[in-house]
Amino acid sequence: MRDVAPQSTRHRVLPRNDPRQYDDLSGEWWRPDGVFAMLHWIAEARASLVPPADRPDALLVDLGCGAGLLAPHLAGKGYRHVGVDLTRSALAQAAAHGVTAVNGDVTAVPLADGCADVVSAGEVLEHVPDWRAAVAEACRLLRPGGLLVVDTLNDTVLSRVVAVHIGERLPTVPRGIHDPRLFVDDRELVAECARHGVELRVRGARPELRGLIGWLLRRVRGAAATEARTPRIVPTRSTAVLYQGWGVRKG
Ligand SMILES: C[S@@+](CC[C@H](N)C(=O)[O-])C[C@H]1O[C@@H](n2cnc3c(N)ncnc32)[C@H](O)[C@@H]1O
Repeated sequence: MRDVAPQSTRHRVLPRNDPRQYDDLSGEWWRPDGVFAMLHWIAEARASLVPPADRPDALLVDLGCGAGLLAPHLAGKGYRHVGVDLTRSALAQAAAHGVTAVNGDVTAVPLADGCADVVSAGEVLEHVPDWRAAVAEACRLLRPGGLLVVDTLNDTVLSRVVAVHIGERLPTVPRGIHDPRLFVDDRELVAECARHGVELRVRGARPELRGLIGWLLRRVRGAAATEARTPRIVPTRSTAVLYQGWGVRKG
């Protein structure tokens, strides 16, 4: 794996997983046919794991919230949506979508213990050099009985091939955004959550193939992707590439 991603941005050459890539790509976040398209699809699947709030003033903390792509999928569920992210340009967009933006690192979140009814960590653990510290923070933020929802990329050869060597050549994933050395083994994630009082269940997830192929073909033809049905992320038996996890913090 090369250390740099020569086509990671249109502006400059940055190392793999350098967070400044998100600044260079800030105009892409909310484009349904942009390089973050797949994040929209995954956000929808993540939100489907979040039940409606069971009390007034319920708080959902969205770790590595980016530009707040989860927000539309939480509408009507009754949460105050607080997003934590390193990237200010993304947070500004999240705020414009109703997210209370907190600039910070997911390994040291400036929020109180037990403040959250739900903590979401979507597509962020695989970008954090110390993902265990991020998991510890996620669990610290959860109130007893609160729900943790995560999705990330597994630390497997197949994941490197699919998410990096293939995925980053497709128009749905920015080139150079991943450093596969940071990918997260699903069994290690389950063990780490258990250490912090959350019994995590995991399942594989993937784009529905017909939807994905149709979307890509339309994209190649230059038709607006909005004309195509948004590909759905569906559960799959294998956790070897993309997987979701969810679990409740013990009281
Ligand atoms: C792939 S994006 C996912 C964004 C969002 N969760 C979504 O699914 O649309 C990863 C996000 O994590 C943020 N990020 C990466 N490392 C971080 C860290 N240590 N602390 C906070 N945010 C981080 C990046 O700035 C970026 O916005």
